[in-house]
Amino acid sequence: MKQIPTRLVLLGHPVSQSLSPRFQNAALQVAGIDATYEAFDVDPLKLEEVVADLKAQGAAGNVTVPFKERIHALCDELTPMARRVGAVNTWWVEDGKLVGDNTDVGGFIAAAKDLVDPRDLTVGVIGAGGAAAAVLAAIESWPGCVAHVYNRTPERARILCERFSTIAQPVDDIGAVAGSQLVVNATSVGLKNDDVPADLSLFSRDNTVVIDLVYKPGETRFIRALRSRGVRGVDGTRMLVEQGALAFERWFGREPDRRVMWNALTGASALS
Ligand code: ATR
Repeated sequence: MKQIPTRLVLLGHPVSQSLSPRFQNAALQVAGIDATYEAFDVDPLKLEEVVADLKAQGAAGNVTVPFKERIHALCDELTPMARRVGAVNTWWVEDGKLVGDNTDVGGFIAAAKDLVDPRDLTVGVIGAGGAAAAVLAAIESWPGCVAHVYNRTPERARILCERFSTIAQPVDDIGAVAGSQLVVNATSVGLKNDDVPADLSLFSRDNTVVIDLVYKPGETRFIRALRSRGVRGVDGTRMLVEQGALAFERWFGREPDRRVMWNALTGASALS
């Protein structure tokens, strides 16, 4: 049986920048659930120890950079989606076992569906790490869609595309990727500064929509700069809320109030 957790923990290093505690605690409070969500900056040398302790407590939570692959390896059980992506962002304890899932895929799908009809698309993916794997797992579920993957280190793109060979192929021309109908920034470019992952002039205002998986209060510079050139796009805030909402559903078997989550994150008055 799945334990109802009272302690929710985000494992990462560093995690102080994470906005998850803010919107998860708001959702817990409005749902009247007696649990708290905290960010835990874990010493990479102590991850196994920390996880064993949390498991004994029947805690649950999320995982962020750089531990998504390591937690995947530590889980006793994985959902099919976590197995497919090769990374875990959501975990809980069931019958004393650590179970890992991946709600980044569902979060990305929700963000994409706000912008495009996900069928018969060519998707340009920039990046070839864990975030890109979640994007490819989503695209794999969309009818008639294929992905072109560009990465700074081409060998990583090639290896990732081999795992998703029915829909993904590596490309060495970032211009071709930026010209796709849907373009996804799955790199960490823009996280620590205002850099952009590709030359803005490569993007077409008529045919392209862009999703930046990086999020920032007030959006990333990449998305703001594209919009000023007439290119439609969103940053990772929508995906962040949705992956968190799906995680909440896994932990408590009920839906959170997504509007409360969104408002806690953005201060905005509507989920739009
Ligand atoms: P995640 O799990 O968040 O995807 P990751 O596995 O470390 O994190 O992958 C980070 C991605 O961002 C990689 O595609 C990385 O490119 P490399 O494989 O060449 O390292 C990309 N990335 C990080 N910094 C970058 C930069 N300054 N320019 C271009 N790509 C960058």
